[in-house]
Amino acid sequence: MPEATQINTMFGGIAKRYDRANHILSFGMDFAWRRFVTKRVATYHPKRVLDLATGSGDLAFALKKRLGKQVDVKGADFCQPMLEIAEHKQRNKQPDSKVSFSLADCLSLPFDDNSVDVVTIAFGLRNLEDRAQGLAEIRRVLRKEHGALLILEFSQPDRWLRPFYYTYLKYILPSLASMTTRNASAYHYLAGSIEQFPNKGKLCEEILHAGFSSVQAAGLTGSIVAVHEAMV
Ligand SMILES: C[S@@+](CC[C@H](N)C(=O)[O-])C[C@H]1O[C@@H](n2cnc3c(N)ncnc32)[C@H](O)[C@@H]1O
Repeated sequence: MPEATQINTMFGGIAKRYDRANHILSFGMDFAWRRFVTKRVATYHPKRVLDLATGSGDLAFALKKRLGKQVDVKGADFCQPMLEIAEHKQRNKQPDSKVSFSLADCLSLPFDDNSVDVVTIAFGLRNLEDRAQGLAEIRRVLRKEHGALLILEFSQPDRWLRPFYYTYLKYILPSLASMTTRNASAYHYLAGSIEQFPNKGKLCEEILHAGFSSVQAAGLTGSIVAVHEAMV
């Protein structure tokens, strides 16, 4: 795992082309994955939601849209250029969305204990230098009663899909990515980090080990991605 400063610099380097690359490389499936998360979050009827590693803010905007004006949605990320894209979108495309974005490191969150109803993190947990520390920080800021964590992240796909998927990851994705972002190395990192990321069962164990009382995982698109939903 590269150091946090390398991760930060890497995302800073691709920030301007990040959204387009996301939609192209996921064949547009990222919209449906976020929709699944926002639907699940709505079932908790939260008042305060924190989207960590929010990047260019797409999940935070989708949450705000689904949950409505009365719900406080915050987005936090440690990469200033990614947050600038989020702020730019807020000004130009989402003027009524009123998500508040802040610069923050998931490993040392500038939020009070027991202060957030739901934390979401999409494609961010895999990039944390210390996953256990990140989960501990998330648990600290979540409400002790009914606080919920939703993680949208790549997973290990169903067996039948693996040969195609790993071929795509290793050989097709980096070249597609270098065409869309002109930064092949970031997407070589992406492929490697996905392969090394724990499967659903192992991530559930890590979440319980971090002190959450329960967790369930749902695989989407043949478990290319999974949503882990954990209660404090
Ligand atoms: C793959 S992007 C995901 C962005 C967004 N959530 C999405 O779904 O498109 C990963 C994000 O995690 C952020 N990140 C990585 N480590 C972080 C940390 N320790 N604290 C805050 N943000 C972090 C990066 O800056 C980047 O914006």
